[in-house]
Formats: sequence, C-alpha cells, structure tokens
Amino acid sequence: MSSSLVTAAYVGAIILFILSLGGLSNPETSRRGNLYGIIGMTIAVLATVFGPRVTAAGIPWLVGAMVVGGSIGLYAARTVQMTQMPELVAIMHSLVGLAACLVGFASYIDTSITLTGAEKTIHEVEIYVGILIGAVTFSGSVIAFGKLSGKIGGKPLLLPARHWINLVGLVVVIWYGREFILAKDIASGMTPLIVMTVISLLFGIHMVMAIGGADMPVVVSMLNSYSGWAAAATGFMLSNDLLIVTGALVGSSGAILSYIMCRAMNRNFISVIAGGFGTGGGAPAAKGAGEPAGEVVSISAAETADLLREAKSVIIVPGYGMAVAQAQHTVFEITKHLREKGVNVRFGIHPVAGRMPGHMNVLLAEAKVPYDIVLEMDEINADFPDTDVSMVIGANDIVNPAAQDDPASPIAGMPVLEVWKAKTSIVMKRSMASGYAGVDNPLFYKDNNRMLFGDAKKMLDEVLGALKA
Ligand code: TAP
Repeated sequence: MSSSLVTAAYVGAIILFILSLGGLSNPETSRRGNLYGIIGMTIAVLATVFGPRVTAAGIPWLVGAMVVGGSIGLYAARTVQMTQMPELVAIMHSLVGLAACLVGFASYIDTSITLTGAEKTIHEVEIYVGILIGAVTFSGSVIAFGKLSGKIGGKPLLLPARHWINLVGLVVVIWYGREFILAKDIASGMTPLIVMTVISLLFGIHMVMAIGGADMPVVVSMLNSYSGWAAAATGFMLSNDLLIVTGALVGSSGAILSYIMCRAMNRNFISVIAGGFGTGGGAPAAKGAGEPAGEVVSISAAETADLLREAKSVIIVPGYGMAVAQAQHTVFEITKHLREKGVNVRFGIHPVAGRMPGHMNVLLAEAKVPYDIVLEMDEINADFPDTDVSMVIGANDIVNPAAQDDPASPIAGMPVLEVWKAKTSIVMKRSMASGYAGVDNPLFYKDNNRMLFGDAKKMLDEVLGALKA
C-alpha cells in the first residue's frame, strides 16, 4: 500500500472516530457510534499493517501479536461482568501507558534513527515526555484497578508532606530531563531516563493512592484522558499522525468527562488530583457522633406493591446494587405494568450512579426501558415533592441527604437525588451497609422512608408477582 493511500485511509479512520464519539454521546445513536468506531479501527489497523513502514518479515510478528491480544480481549469482553467494567477499563488504560513506555525506550535505543541538531532534541523530548506520561498512566491505572476491584482499600493514603514529595519529584524529573537531552550517547542518556521512569511510576501510585473512594469516578475518567495523551505521545515518537489525532481525541474527551464528573460531584478538579477526599470502601457505616438517631421501618414486597399500585407518579432511582443484582429486566417489567395501569413512571439518573459513566443508562437501555422516561438528575430533582413514591434500587451515596446537610461528610456538596421529598421513599438493599464512599445514610431513618431488605432482583420479582396477583 502506498503512503498516500495510507494517509487517505488514516483520514477516513479519523473521520469515523469523530463520528463515533458523536454517536456515543446519545443512547439512541450509541450503537451506530460503536459501529463507526469498529470500522474506523479496522481501517486503521489494516492501513498500518499493509503500509510502507511494515516489511514482509514483520507481518508474522504482527499477526501473532494480534491473535494473542485479540484472543485475550475477546475472552475478557465475554467473561467480564458489567459491574467489573470499570476495573477492566482501568487495566486496559494501564496497557496504553505501558505501551508508551516501551515504545519510548525502543525508539531511544533504535540505532536506525539518525537525527541531528534540533530534530534530535525534539525527538528526545518526545521520548522523555512520552515515557513520563506512559509511566504515570501505567502505575496509576494499576492502582485504580486495585481500588475499583476492592483489592486495595478505598481509604486515601495521605503521606505527611505529600505535596512536597510530589514537588521534589517534579524538580528531579525536570533536572534529569536536562541531563537526558545533554547526554552524549545512548548509554549516558539511559540513567536519567530510568530515574525519571521510576519517579513517574511512583508518582502514579502516590497520586491514585491519595484519592479517596468518593472521588474514584473522576480518577477513572482522568486516567482515560491520560491514556489518550500517552497514545498521542507514542504517535509523536513513531511519527504516526493517526495515533497523534486519536490519542488527542481520547485525551481531550477524557478531560471533558473528568470536568463533567467533577461538576456532577461538586468537586474542584485540582483538589481531587491533590487527593485526600473520600473515605473507606463498602464497610458498614461506623457509628459516629453524627449518627442519625432513630429506627428504620422495613416494608414487605407486598406492601411495596400496594404503595406502587396506589401511586399516580413514581420515580425509580437505580444504583450500583441494581447492576449487581442484574435487576434491570424486572425493573422494566414493573415499569411496563405500572404504565399500563396509568401510573406515571420515570427514572432519575445520577451522573455517578453505579461504577462508570452511563452505567445505569446502559443497563436500562439493555432492558428496553424507553429513553424518554429516563431523566438526568437536573431534569427530575425538582419533581420529587410532587411524587407519590420514589423507589431507590440498590443506590446509596447518590441519594444521601448528608451531602446537603452535613458539611463534615466526605461527600458534602455533592449534588444528590432528593428522593426523601417524595410522599414515600422506598430503599431496596440487602443490609444497612454503606455505599462506595463508606458513609452512613440518614435517608434510611427518615419518617417517610421504608426499607425493603433483600437482593434487588429477588425483591423486585416478588413485587412484580404481587402487582400482577
Ligand atoms: P453505592 O453508594 O455504592 O451503593 C450501592 C448500594 O447497593 C450498596 O449500599 C449496597 O447495599 C446495595 N447493593 C449491593 N448489591 C445489592 C444487591 N444485590 N441487591 C440490592 N442492593 C444491593 O452506589 P450508588 O448509589 O450507585 O453510588 C455510586 C457510588 O460509586 C458513588 O459513591 C460514586 O462516587 C462511586 N463511583 C462511581 C463511579 C462512576 S463513574 N459512576 C466510579 C467509581 C465509583 P447492601 O450491601 O446493603 O445491599
């Protein structure tokens, strides 16, 4: 394939990637968006493999690598649970970071690249910065994987003088960057490169360890952004325009997503990165001084069905527990049944419900819940006072009134769905355990709140049975 044909194929792939991002921004067009992405990536891979930079001798290596990588990807995609998706995404990001590091070292020791003067310096800066971003992305994503999968606790690790440690690290990295550029040969440039890589790896670990459970959504999208910049850096090192543009698309869309997440959680991006917010994982809430007094009132599935039957308007608020229980199909059946009886049923979706952006939207779309009754938090929050029943299915942090009432709460200031303003709120969960942010929820103790204890799928099946009886 000639280089001009490759360039044309790359331009086509870039257009498809942009169309893909556009499609993915709306549930109704997301399938089409996905298809554009698949076609774009296929074109990109074929154009690269058959392009002028790959010799015939290299093809078996590429095919071998693609078979191994493709099989692992296929296996992971088929076996991973929907609730494990964020962990899978985190570990995939780590691979992008690792690739950037490896490409950086390979380009540095590649003796076939003979550049001089300014071109040499620019290439070395690309290598240094590429490895730096790659190493931070790699180690940060591995730690994020550990935190999201519960292998590492959600509590933020707050080292004394942590900001100073980071600052010293930055100064050392800049100093060694100078040493690296001034190095006379590959052997003497290797030491600064390795020192910088080690510092960057440690920085990635430290950065994510310092971020608490409640702020993990921002970290996931931020690492998504970093992986894009790591890919763009790889593109610079390999002089591959497609990789530069694609990396920049991922990098900037990840940055925009991080910003949206921060706004949704009322957090300042810089202070999230600086760390220290949030507390432990999904342990039962500690009994502290600020513990709301009172008893919880539990309710049976049959009583829940009665309340729903008598209601004129119902708002369902799904959360992580609905995903764990895979209860979305029963939720749809209940919704269908109630709507047929003339009840106005709508869904309220919090931007960080579940464990990944759009988690609830994906599940509800899979269960065929109509898009027009699935509303964002801002669109529906004012309607709770006029609602008869708000039904919380496996959600906790996103409906916690402490975010509004308790300035000392780790989630203080985070906007929440005000389910307690409905005439009756019903919370469906298995126990009194706290959610991801590890904080107690005063909603459970409110007079108009009822607890329906049990696995969400099992309880909803019972509710559906009672509704139909
Ligand atoms: P959580 O606050 O984590 O609460 C989920 C609740 O579901 C738990 O309290 C749990 O209580 C219940 N549950 C678990 N399995 C269940 C089952 N089988 N049946 C019924 N209930 C079950 O979830 P949320 O309200 O969706 O809030 C999301 C949280 O995750 C936020 O803190 C957010 O910051 C964080 N987070 C979000 C993301 C993104 S991007 N969305 C990424 C990382 C972290 P029981 O154990 O008592 O059943």
